[in-house]
Amino acid sequence: MMDNTLSIRPGDLEDINSIGFLAQQIWPITYGDILSAEQLRYMLNLFYSPASLRKQMVEDHHQFAIVEQEEEPIGFASWSATDKLGVYKLHKLYVLTGQQGKGLGRTLLQYVFETIGSKGAKTLQLNVNRHNKARQFYERMGFAVVKEEDVPIGNNYFMNDYVMEAAVPQ
Ligand SMILES: CC(C)(COP(=O)(O)OP(=O)(O)OC[C@H]1O[C@@H](n2cnc3c(N)ncnc32)[C@H](O)[C@@H]1OP(=O)(O)O)[C@@H](O)C(=O)NCCC(=O)NCCS
Repeated sequence: MMDNTLSIRPGDLEDINSIGFLAQQIWPITYGDILSAEQLRYMLNLFYSPASLRKQMVEDHHQFAIVEQEEEPIGFASWSATDKLGVYKLHKLYVLTGQQGKGLGRTLLQYVFETIGSKGAKTLQLNVNRHNKARQFYERMGFAVVKEEDVPIGNNYFMNDYVMEAAVPQ
């Protein structure tokens, strides 16, 4: 049962600054031992600049969810349909470091599953860095690794990932 100071709501253009602000805090702790400082800065700009977030929301039709404690954003998720019928992609799932391990990741994921499930989704797919311990969280949430891939992201940088999938609870 989620405590009543917490709420989850759809995110929109108004949330671009708080999503960027949260990412600036969470990414260095999450990827500081995995990525070079230059690659981390490059990727934060690539995926979290206001222009990039606006493009994700407006052009790429990524949906966002914001989890808040007393109206203070403490985590977010984003997802979208793929070109494969019934397959959706989870693009982002981030909880403020001090708030991790309290069930918020699970609650955000359940919100995503319910939202896409109501649209007939069958599978949720995601990429996770092969050195990110979040892989264990996703396995706990029912995801399994289906393949490995190295995704070029420009500037000779790559995302060295596992692709994981889970069936959307019907
Ligand atoms: C990954 C993340 C979203 C998980 O959210 P969270 O709120 O910390 O996780 P929850 O408290 O909801 O955990 C749900 C369950 O997974 C388990 N779990 C969470 N993180 C885990 C980990 N790293 N390893 C093993 N189990 C883990 C919890 O123990 C809990 O188990 P339970 O069912 O027995 O209670 C969060 O830790 C985070 O933001 N991490 C940094 C950013 C990141 O890596 N995001 C993913 C990018 S692909």
